[in-house]
Parts: sequence; C-alpha cells; structure tokens
Amino acid sequence: MNVLGLIFSIGAVTFSCAIPTILKDKCKHPTKVEHAELDWSKGDWNKQAYSQGVLAYYICRPGYMRLGTIRKICSEGEWVRISNGSCKRKRCNNPGEIDFGTFELINEEDFLFGAIVEYSCQPGYQMISKHKRIECTVFGWSKEPPECEARLCPPVVDDSVRILSTVLDEEYTHGQVINLQCKNPNDKLNGPSQIYCTTNGTWNIEPPTCKDYSEEGGMAVKQSHGDKLIPITVELPQVEQKEQKLTETKCAPPPLILFAELIGERKWMYDSGSVIQYQCLMYYKVKGNQQIKCQDGVWDLPPTCLRPCVLNYYYMKGNNTTVENGRSKFLEHDEVVHFKCLPTFEISKPGQLNAKCLDGTLQYPKCVKIKQKRTEKKCSPPPFILFGELMGEKKWMYDSGSVIQYQCLMYYKLKGNQQIKCQDGVWDLPPTCLRPCVFNYNYMKGNNTTVENVRSKFVEHDDAVHFKCLPTFEISKPGQLNAKCLDGTLQYPKCVKITDEVTAQPSVGTETTVY
Ligand SMILES: *[C@@H]1O[C@H](CO)[C@@H](O)[C@H](O)[C@H]1NC(C)=O
Ligand SMILES: *[C@@H]1O[C@H](CO)[C@@H](O)[C@H](O)[C@H]1NC(C)=O
Ligand SMILES: *[C@@H]1O[C@H](CO)[C@@H](O)[C@H](O)[C@H]1NC(C)=O
Ligand SMILES: *[C@@H]1O[C@H](CO)[C@@H](O)[C@H](O)[C@H]1NC(C)=O
Ligand SMILES: *[C@@H]1O[C@H](CO)[C@@H](O)[C@H](O)[C@H]1NC(C)=O
Ligand SMILES: *[C@@H]1O[C@H](CO)[C@@H](O)[C@H](O)[C@H]1NC(C)=O
Repeated sequence: MNVLGLIFSIGAVTFSCAIPTILKDKCKHPTKVEHAELDWSKGDWNKQAYSQGVLAYYICRPGYMRLGTIRKICSEGEWVRISNGSCKRKRCNNPGEIDFGTFELINEEDFLFGAIVEYSCQPGYQMISKHKRIECTVFGWSKEPPECEARLCPPVVDDSVRILSTVLDEEYTHGQVINLQCKNPNDKLNGPSQIYCTTNGTWNIEPPTCKDYSEEGGMAVKQSHGDKLIPITVELPQVEQKEQKLTETKCAPPPLILFAELIGERKWMYDSGSVIQYQCLMYYKVKGNQQIKCQDGVWDLPPTCLRPCVLNYYYMKGNNTTVENGRSKFLEHDEVVHFKCLPTFEISKPGQLNAKCLDGTLQYPKCVKIKQKRTEKKCSPPPFILFGELMGEKKWMYDSGSVIQYQCLMYYKLKGNQQIKCQDGVWDLPPTCLRPCVFNYNYMKGNNTTVENVRSKFVEHDDAVHFKCLPTFEISKPGQLNAKCLDGTLQYPKCVKITDEVTAQPSVGTETTVY
C-alpha cells in the first residue's frame, strides 16, 4: 500500500464513523413502488445516503404504463410520496372473433399484458395456423389470431382410378361424394365405387384401387402402391349380371346436406321404396325426418342439421355473467343454458338468466351492478310563499315522504296543491295565493257606476261583481256591467250620461215621445 492509499483508507474509516450521525437526517436507498423502478436518467440511486429534499423519480416496468408521475421526496430520513401516480398493466385490444371459432382468456380476466387467449374451432373445422394461443405483449398481440377451416379430405391419388366428381376441386369438404372408375376396362375396383368425405377429414373408407382380376381369380397381382406389387387376397366384387333398367321409378343419389352424413353406403341409384338415413354431426341437431324414402324417383324432403352454439366467455364477462363450472362450451340447438350473474351483479328479471341456443345463435343475458339501497334524502324546510303560510309546526328537517299543507291569507285564493310532499330531498311545487280585489269607490264614481249588494270591500279572485250605472247614466252594452276579479285586478265599467239622441232613437225612444 502506498502513502496515498493509506491516507485514503484512513479517510474512508473516518468517514464511515461519521455516517450514523449524518444518516439521522438523511435517507437511505429510495423505497420501492409497485411495478416501478427508479429512473436512472434522473439521478444516481447507488448512493448510500440522500439529503433532505432530494427527489426520487420512478418509471414503470416493461408491460406497465404510468398514470401520473411517481415521485418521492427525502424528508427527515424518510422517503415520502409526493405524487400518487401508479403503474398499471398495459392492455391489448380485443383480439377479435374468428370465423368458425371462438376464444377464451386462459390466465387473466381481461386483455392485460401477459394475458393469453386461446382459440378453438367449431366441430367440423380445424385450425390452419400452428398456434392456437396468442399473448398480450408490450407491443400488442404476439401473433395474428389463427384461422379455422373446414376439414378437408385428401385427394385420391391412384393412377389406376379415374375420379368422377361434380366437384372440380382437388380437395374435398365433408359430405362430398366422389365416384371412382378403373382407367383400364379390364380392371376391377377392390371396394365400392363411391366414397364420401367425413367430418374429420377422412374418407368413409380407404379409397379403393383397381386390380387386374384376369389371372388367378380371387388373387390380385397388381396393386399400384408406389412401385411395389403386393399380392393380396380380396373378395371379388359381385358384378351385377342383370342389366339395370333405368326406369323413372329409381332415385338419383340422395341430396347432400350441410353438417350431416349419410349412414351406410351411398349408391348411384336407389330403387323406389329405398330408405336412407342421415346423421347430423356431433352437437348438430336434426330437424325433420332423419330417414327419407325414394318414391317414384323422388326423395322425400331431407332433414336439416341445426348448428350448435359455442359459449363465448368474453361476451359473458362483458355482460357480467358466467355459467356453472366445467360446463361444455357447446350447446345443441334448443338447449337451454343457465347463466349466473357474477358476484355483486344482478339481473332485472330472474327468468332472463336462461338462454336458448337457436341454430347457432345465443342471446347472452346482461347483469348489472347491484344498487346500494340508498337512504332517501331529507328535505330542508319547505319554501316560503307570498300571502300564504304553513299549517302546523315548521321543522328544520323533513323526512322523505313527509306531507305539509299551506293556507292562504284571508280573501286570498289558493291555486295548485294545498298539500306538498318531500320526495328524496325535493319538495313538490308549492301552491300560490291569488290576490283579492279591493273596491275603489273613487273609480266607480269617476266611471259613473256603483255596485250592488256589497257585503265587504273585498272580492276574492275569480268572483264576479255586478255593477250598476248611476241614475241617468247608461252603459253602451249591458253585458259590460259584469266584471271579474283576476288576481287583484278588476276592470271597472264606464257609464255615460243618457243623451237625448239616445232617447230619440226608434223602438224604445218612439214610445216615450208618444207619452
Ligand atoms: C392524488 O390523486 C387525487 C385524485 O385521485 C388528486 O386529486 C390529488 O391531487 C393527487 N395527489 C397528488 C399528491 O398528486
Ligand atoms: C373420424 O370420426 C369417426 C366418428 O365420426 C371416428 O370413428 C374416427 O375414428 C375418426 N377418425 C379420425 C382419423 O379421427
Ligand atoms: C353482451 O352479449 C352480447 C350478445 O348477446 C354481445 O354482442 C355483447 O358484445 C356482449 N357485451 C360485451 C360488453 O361483451
Ligand atoms: C357490467 O358491469 C360493468 C360494471 O358495473 C358495467 O360498466 C357494464 O355496463 C356491465 N355490462 C352490461 C352489459 O350491462
Ligand atoms: C274608471 O275605471 C278605471 C279602472 O277600470 C280607472 O283606471 C279610471 O281612473 C276610472 N275613471 C275615473 C274618472 O275615475
Ligand atoms: C261620467 O259622467 C260625467 C258626467 O256626464 C262625464 O263627464 C264623465 O266623462 C263620465 N265618465 C266616464 C269615464 O265616461
């Protein structure tokens, strides 16, 4: 150790002795924040101590995103949060439905970072893509969703046979029928001349090949399997000797129907009266008659196969429902599935939790959050109204449902409801009190009128008043002598001096002059 090194180490010792006292006001390494790391671009976090007032900045771990800032301050030896940002897991979009398939979230409730979605195909379909799972990563979904396609039967590749098919395609979907013939007229097929493609992408039987039966009856010597000749024993097909008469009473091969297979072998021609039977694929439900009959060259109406429903767990979650554990994902047509609301959710009508699969479609019920039974709000004292008062005692607070009653002052007339109710903190509209009219004798005099049978100086709203003209005065139209008090206003009629001109008028006037 050189001198400099010695001084340095002594210095270090001195320093380390001093640390405990310094640390009393200083902070140690910044404390952890969930899903976050210290931001090294904003400081050196390898120090042993941090002074009062130092800020620590945090960033989110991969797969998490920051909502708000995350900072702490060193205060009296403790790291104290000064902002309440947090790191939330990143989300991916809904990866989407695929044709002929469905998906399910495997490990998570939602499309969060790390969530795995697994796709599956409907019966009769298979996945083309190698992967059935996709994962939500920092950059979105790890892969495109897979695709489902109908299972196909392999092409028949035997050089000795000729394929007669209505389908030009090299590949065959389920239910398709092909007819086989030997290219060499001397050869015979070692199996039926008609085969069909089944739902799981295989032919109903191994496609037959052609053999030459000319030598050693019963012993086939040629079979075209690659370039090897394998002698095998086969049964000679029963060749119909009788010439088949093509009469109108025979039926052509029965119609192919979607999602169904024919039970038994398919033939070229069916005698009148023949009965054949269809079978729907697994989970598909037959509608109509499974058996149909050939009658005078015409087949009965074939049945149809109604599609099953595939439970969509994502829809269920979105609608806040679930089904019982371990339930099959598939439902046959007409089958009822009983949904349950997720905990703390409820359905408006209980019966709506049952849904029926109808030819591949299923209506998912919706559940909503159970509402907290809220206590209804109380009302503050009822509103003050002009010219009216509250009957009974006035309180500081009224319970919801309380009813109070107003009363108008004397001569004032109530309009609206006399009683009002407190409903969840709000009072009904209060009534109003309409003003009475006060007779103005000056006006009457000025307008040359007087009033009949008056008992008081006041007339209530809506009450009628009958005026009279003062003697030797008259009104132009008699009806105008009636007036009505309307919320404090009264129209006084006017009477005018009876003039000679008026008395001189015909009818009434003439008679007067005769006297
Ligand atoms: C914490 O969050 C609330 C809102 O959730 C906000 O009003 C408040 O200002 C935040 N406090 C700090 C220190 O950021
Ligand atoms: C095809 O399906 C039938 C039933 O429909 C089954 O017996 C057979 O084993 C299946 N074949 C394959 C290769 O899966
Ligand atoms: C609820 O179910 C329906 C089908 O009945 C579906 O179309 C809808 O997307 C679901 N809602 C959510 C939020 O997933
Ligand atoms: C499911 O519940 C959530 C949370 O209460 C709500 O936002 C959503 O609208 C509900 N879904 C349906 C389809 O009502
Ligand atoms: C007549 O009556 C009206 C009210 O209808 C009043 O305004 C008017 O002053 C009266 N006329 C006189 C001369 O008093
Ligand atoms: C009432 O009668 C007097 C006397 O005839 C007349 O001057 C006055 O105009 C009359 N008042 C009204 C409002 O017509």
